[in-house]
Amino acid sequence: MTHAHFPHTRLRRNRHDAFTRRLVAENTLQVDDLIWPVFVCEGQGQQQPVQAMPGVSRVSLDRLAAHVAPAVSLGIPAVALFPVTPLEIRDEAGTEAVNPDNLMCRSARLLKKEFPQLGLVGDVALDPYTSHGHDGLVEDGYVLNDESIPLLQKQALHEAQAGIDIIAPSDMMDGRIRAIRETLDSHGHTTTRIMAYAAKYASAFYGPFRDALGSGNLLKGDKKTYQMDPANSDEALREVACDLAEGADMVMVKPGMPYLDIIRRVREKFAVPTFAYQVSGEYAMLMGAIENGWLDRDQTILESLLAFKRAGCNGILTYFAPEAARLIRERS
Ligand code: PBG
Repeated sequence: MTHAHFPHTRLRRNRHDAFTRRLVAENTLQVDDLIWPVFVCEGQGQQQPVQAMPGVSRVSLDRLAAHVAPAVSLGIPAVALFPVTPLEIRDEAGTEAVNPDNLMCRSARLLKKEFPQLGLVGDVALDPYTSHGHDGLVEDGYVLNDESIPLLQKQALHEAQAGIDIIAPSDMMDGRIRAIRETLDSHGHTTTRIMAYAAKYASAFYGPFRDALGSGNLLKGDKKTYQMDPANSDEALREVACDLAEGADMVMVKPGMPYLDIIRRVREKFAVPTFAYQVSGEYAMLMGAIENGWLDRDQTILESLLAFKRAGCNGILTYFAPEAARLIRERS
């Protein structure tokens, strides 16, 4: 360029070499940011691959510690447990949800004993336990709100008693955070945290997860009367405000990648610990392209997760957690 003063501002200077890029980086992805969702099933010696989620499997209790051990060694702070309930013990009322010896509680007790430092996140909702696949009680095709809450309270209490550190209500009933907080507190679980699935959308991206749990084919209708409409954004802020007022310690936006705008708005308005769930369909989408050789595996995984940090997340629930942790460790 010949003109002496052209251009003064060259944004490319700060991209000139790796050390400068590292110095000016505004966000970083760390192992500390990751929560790994894990599917647990009944039986012995089970390691069943999940359809549409290459690399993800359901493991039986006898294999759970060995399955989780590498994630613990990599320094992943927490896992989120999802039980696969055998079809024959699912019923209309989701009775198994409040069994203090259900698969969720047995998994929590086992992991707490094996890895006392590992954080345990426990989903609270009836869908893994109901014969209709809905998150609450159903009457005349409608998911009942207030009537479902006592079950969620009981489910949460049993999870806390089994060693779950963070209760994560994913059911989207109104008022359940306050009710669960009161139950936990009145039973002495004052330090058990609540991570509210605050802005959870009625999304097509949960498909592979429902298949993993075996609730996909069971689901009657859809979840649009309780999960949020993907058209809405202001409403997500009202959901978060309610859950915080009711006692949530952390909030979550779900799904993740298609809802980065919601994460940003939540972060800016509330400045509270904010999480995103990069859900099963997002994983399936990325892995589909990766396995076809259409996207670069390592770069795609790290970029997809860094985007959540840039949007304002403190942490991310992701099926890529162990792989991402390995990549982060390799690169630092
Ligand atoms: C249960 C629940 C769902 C997910 C997490 N908890 C499914 C649903 O609401 O139908 C989805 C997670 C994923 O897709 O990875 N309420």
